[in-house]
Amino acid sequence: MLSAQDRAIVKSTVPLLESGGEALITHFYRMMLSEYPQVRPLFNQAHQASGDQPRALANGVLMYARHIDQLDQLGDLVAKIINKHVALQILPEHYPIVGACLLRAISEVLGSEIATPEVMSAWGAAYGQLADILIGAEAAIYEEKAQAPGGWRGARPFLLVKRVEESDEIISFYFAPADNGPILAAAPGQYIGMKLVLDGEEVRRNYSLSALTDAGVYRISVKREAGGRVSNYLHDQMQVGATIDLFPPSGEFTLAASDKPLVLISGGVGITPTLPMLEAALASERPVHFIHCARNGGVHAFRDWVDALAAKHPQLKRYYCYAEDDGVSPAADKVGLLSQDQLAAWLPEQRDIDAYFLGPKGFMAAIKRHLQALGVPEKQSRYEFFGPAAALE
Ligand SMILES: Cc1cc2nc3c(=O)[nH]c(=O)nc-3n(C[C@H](O)[C@H](O)[C@H](O)COP(=O)(O)OP(=O)(O)OC[C@H]3O[C@@H](n4cnc5c(N)ncnc54)[C@H](O)[C@@H]3O)c2cc1C
Ligand code: HEM
Repeated sequence: MLSAQDRAIVKSTVPLLESGGEALITHFYRMMLSEYPQVRPLFNQAHQASGDQPRALANGVLMYARHIDQLDQLGDLVAKIINKHVALQILPEHYPIVGACLLRAISEVLGSEIATPEVMSAWGAAYGQLADILIGAEAAIYEEKAQAPGGWRGARPFLLVKRVEESDEIISFYFAPADNGPILAAAPGQYIGMKLVLDGEEVRRNYSLSALTDAGVYRISVKREAGGRVSNYLHDQMQVGATIDLFPPSGEFTLAASDKPLVLISGGVGITPTLPMLEAALASERPVHFIHCARNGGVHAFRDWVDALAAKHPQLKRYYCYAEDDGVSPAADKVGLLSQDQLAAWLPEQRDIDAYFLGPKGFMAAIKRHLQALGVPEKQSRYEFFGPAAALE
């Protein structure tokens, strides 16, 4: 437990650290990645380059420091961090590395006059407290996943048993355990972690499960990313029979129990977690509106599958919006970007709905704004990022 004095010291330095946020981030990551090569594979280099991941971590630490008197105010931030850590297998031995680098960066940003031994000791205690919270919560989840039916701990080898081209740029990969055992059931919306060695270097990535897990296999659907290491490897080299290491499914962007009308809105490959959500929701009579936006028909994945569900389930309404008409694919319901008026026309009339959305950041910012303006309660409007969380304003 932190002393009242430590808490006061930490809170008093937060504004200084916030104003030096970029310097804090830069020092911290440069130090950690150069001095501790063992943690390098855990971090996605693209997220480093964009600054999103360093910013998310620094923001997490500062949010914690700001609310150090009332940790319950952190809302779902802690759950988000824990789920991401579990999916990438962050372990207790990694925390002292982050702690040491963070403290050195804090001391450099504050300067020696402010970063007195008392200040640094308060920050050391505060980091230790946060690390203990996360390590404890993560250990409980690792244990739970190891003990659950079909569960496991750490990496487990899976075989690629099927590949399906879903669009010009998305391929689905079906993985079954190499040991022929059962798999851990995933909640609709969860993702798996993957560990690969490419050109002698270990890399890790997350992929949403794009189908329910009842059949005993995990399906992911991956978009080829220009210049992307893992997506291009999977598309070009991962053939049926190959093995891959997977971590157990994780994630808190899951379908909450509710009988309100459900609205699933996706852009591009953001469609993946909405597919098992859609399938799960159709087991009840709940009305479902499925809205998907794609650049054009050529890159629109899973259209036939959703159409077939709509033909079978009268409570499902589906709407497609293409940014452009390629003149070849089946027509969209609307061509252009999804406007607020168009979204209003495709939502159920009553706005007491549960909305889930995912797509490129700009798309998500627009959807969030539109849903708010259209009267959807903020708490019922949920989203996730295919990368570190970022502000959507
Ligand atoms: C929870 C979650 C779920 C996800 N689900 C899915 C899913 O269902 N389907 C899916 O396709 N993706 C999904 N993703 C995204 C996925 O994890 C990968 O980020 C994505 O496949 C790109 O990985 P990559 O290795 O191919 O690209 P990366 O190698 O990570 O590169 C991505 C982009 O950054 C650029 N880049 C890389 N390194 C640098 C650098 N040092 N400097 C500048 N630019 C750089 C690359 O050129 C490329 O354009 C998900 C992510 C998360 C976090
Ligand atoms: C108290 C300590 C820590 C805090 C507050 C913290 C916070 C965060 C936050 C906020 C995110 C982004 C979550 C999201 O938006 O999805 C994140 C992701 C991540 N964290 Fe931590 N973290 C801590 C410790 C660690 C440690 C010890 C490691 C391992 C060395 C680590 C590795 C990662 C990785 C690899 C990601 C995902 C990166 C990516 O998407 O590229 N974190 N963490």
